Amino acid sequence: MNVTIDYCIPSTDLHPGFRPQLDDMQSDLDSLRSKLRIAVIYGGNHNRDNAVIYRTFNPRPWKSYQTVARDVQDALQEVGFEWVTLMPDDMNLPQRLRDAGIHFAWLNTGGVQGYSPVSHTAGMLEMLGIPYVGHNPLHASTLDNKHTFKRELQAFGIPTAPFITWHPAQGLLDTGPGSRFERTFAQHHGPFVVKPISGRASLHIAVVDSLDELHEQAFEVAQQTHNTVLIEAYLPGREFCAAVCGGTLVRDDIIRRLHQPFVFSVVERLFRTGEAIFTSMDTQSITYDRVRLVDSSEPEHAQLSHLARTIYTEFNLSSLVRLDVRADAGGKLHVLEANPKPDLKRESCASTSLISVGLPQAGLSYQDLILSLLVDRLHYLFTYVPDSVRHILDLLA
Ligand SMILES: Nc1ncnc2c1ncn2[C@@H]1O[C@H](COP(=O)(O)OP(=O)(O)OP(=O)(O)O)[C@@H](O)[C@H]1O
Ligand SMILES: [Mg+2]
Repeated sequence: MNVTIDYCIPSTDLHPGFRPQLDDMQSDLDSLRSKLRIAVIYGGNHNRDNAVIYRTFNPRPWKSYQTVARDVQDALQEVGFEWVTLMPDDMNLPQRLRDAGIHFAWLNTGGVQGYSPVSHTAGMLEMLGIPYVGHNPLHASTLDNKHTFKRELQAFGIPTAPFITWHPAQGLLDTGPGSRFERTFAQHHGPFVVKPISGRASLHIAVVDSLDELHEQAFEVAQQTHNTVLIEAYLPGREFCAAVCGGTLVRDDIIRRLHQPFVFSVVERLFRTGEAIFTSMDTQSITYDRVRLVDSSEPEHAQLSHLARTIYTEFNLSSLVRLDVRADAGGKLHVLEANPKPDLKRESCASTSLISVGLPQAGLSYQDLILSLLVDRLHYLFTYVPDSVRHILDLLA
């Protein structure tokens, strides 16, 4: 594939201390296709022999994500990378990476077990010196712990449903006069959503109407997840998603550098009658009747794009996230979460993913997206932290 450069940022936009690397990216890519050894990493299974030293618990419901890792692998191979291999991220990962001579990784894992599992493999790669597409350990942890992310949203003044956290170690959940609960929900009298602080696919999430149910459900979620529980106001309005990633895009074989993070797949999730929360993707995959592309003429498009760019910039993110947003009764949008490892499933005739569904509207193919995410990361690393990718720059020498 031939890639030409359309360098949109005037060189004055780059800090003078950094050499613009994008000019070299085309020839770099051409060389790297035959030389760069990439591992696409999916979730290791702690039940396998020698996967871990001691099997513990996974507070975030485990999934291997191997099928989607294969979609990413296929796309990288389709755009010309010759060395792309799949690997699980159990305790043998460092040796596997070393044995296969891997230069670069793509994280498509929620981790193996333990707390903040989404950050473990990024942490391991940081320690090993292997660069990757994916969030650094701090960002992965912050985003995957909904209460931490929501506290930061509040600090930035970004709307999110009022919430408290609770853990059984704190004793009984106090909902009485003067309690945190009462202060937080002074303006809200239910229903409430009880959910894990770190979850996926709407698992262990319940809408409760009464305080009795709330106590019961909070205890239930704590028991199931061995983790802190999030209790927040139920938002009854429409639900939306928006994907946002870095501003280096490969479209029609042309690399473009945008002035701002790139927002795409702005969609509304379509509820069935009586559906209070969106049905788990584990139960029903994302079919075309469950999602609607939001047109750029609709007011929510501009609002969601602004929210997505603000979050990407303020949190200083460096990889793709999918924002989940829901409206309150008055139509005001509130951020539910930003998924650090959004589902990157390639679309098929029968089903799609909330990321892939808007690619045609953005004029991108699935391969374009995957190549864009890779090039955005390499461009960043080559420009701002070249010392962390010497082994890749040496391939180009
Ligand atoms: N405060 C809320 N008000 C209304 N609905 C909510 C609220 N919190 C969660 N939901 C519903 O539950 C679904 C899942 O919630 P959330 O996105 O927070 O968790 P998740 O399990 O990490 O989701 P996923 O991995 O599917 O994106 C949302 O898509 C939404 O339909
Ligand atoms: Mg969600």
